Amino acid sequence: MGSMSDKVLVTGAAGFIGSHLTDLLLKLGYEVVGVDNLSAGRLENLDNALKYKSFKFVRSDILLNDNWIQESKGSSLIFHFAANPEVRHSVREPMNHYEQNLTATMRLLEFARKNDVKLFVFASSSTVYGDPERIPTPEDHPLRPISVYGATKASAEIMCQTYARLYGIKCLILRYANIIGPRLRHGVIYDFLLKLRNNREVLEILGDGTQRKSYLWVGDAVDATVRLADYALRDQGKIFVYNVGNDDWTSVIDIAKTVVEVLGLRSVKFIFRPGTPDGRGWLGDVKLMLLDISKLKEDLRWKPSMSSLEAVKATARSLAEELKMMY
Ligand SMILES: NC(=O)c1ccc[n+]([C@@H]2O[C@H](COP(=O)([O-])OP(=O)(O)OC[C@H]3O[C@@H](n4cnc5c(N)ncnc54)[C@H](O)[C@@H]3O)[C@@H](O)[C@H]2O)c1
Repeated sequence: MGSMSDKVLVTGAAGFIGSHLTDLLLKLGYEVVGVDNLSAGRLENLDNALKYKSFKFVRSDILLNDNWIQESKGSSLIFHFAANPEVRHSVREPMNHYEQNLTATMRLLEFARKNDVKLFVFASSSTVYGDPERIPTPEDHPLRPISVYGATKASAEIMCQTYARLYGIKCLILRYANIIGPRLRHGVIYDFLLKLRNNREVLEILGDGTQRKSYLWVGDAVDATVRLADYALRDQGKIFVYNVGNDDWTSVIDIAKTVVEVLGLRSVKFIFRPGTPDGRGWLGDVKLMLLDISKLKEDLRWKPSMSSLEAVKATARSLAEELKMMY
């Protein structure tokens, strides 16, 4: 990707995907500046990265502070991963999502404009499609988000594309499915583990359990991310949009069964709490999500290394160990 002498800025570097991405970029020989306010991210996610001389961590809030700007000067590539990723909470706190996901992206785009950045990679989401008409959902499907989170991501995508047209900064928009793996601290698998830590007999499931979504191992996600960045840098185009997900999907009930099995628990009673009359987990929850990833597979000759359920199992094992729950 680019040349090894490139300096790379990763926002949200102490978070789940950002820290795995940082590890990979350092391994490939890049100089990396990682910015995070540690609101959700954790310094221990950067234990490996902090061993590299080529890594600099800057604790900074990209909305409220300016100290990251000086440290990030000279970066030719930006991976903008800082955000508030809690879809569920975006219904209750729309302004926070607007600021953390859209205003913060504007701050980064302005940095890119003023500092001659070559490529701006934006972590978008499958939620931009809302309840899709077509499954698997291709990139040219209309964007009709049903959550404030999804709407902030769709708006930020348009802003990135506009900056590409106006100012010539290449932009790569990655619409991730559910990304899972070690260090994850939000979403259904983490939620089930915390609940089972408190009560090993009853598990409350948000929704009717029939929600079906696609899950991708974080190692696969960051591998595809770096390869796509390399592809975008070498291509003549200005705007690149890719779905990044798995070939298959799995249901919430199967995730619940897998987590229970990994923990070696027996006779756990499942209680379903639908958040809406049609059985969603919460207002704004997309019930069925499977991305069409043929563009990614064809352009990169790439494929996921694990199925959705294999990734769920491996994640449940890793997180159970991190949470010291392996009985
Ligand atoms: N995990 C997924 O399944 C998934 C799916 C689709 C899209 N995404 C997107 O990928 C990105 C990373 O998600 P994640 O799962 O790693 O979440 P995460 O919460 O682990 O990472 C986000 C990081 O950003 C930091 N951050 C938030 N606001 C900040 C601010 N104002 N200034 C500085 N740092 C700030 C947090 O401390 C955190 O470390 C997000 O943009 C998210 O919306 C994630």
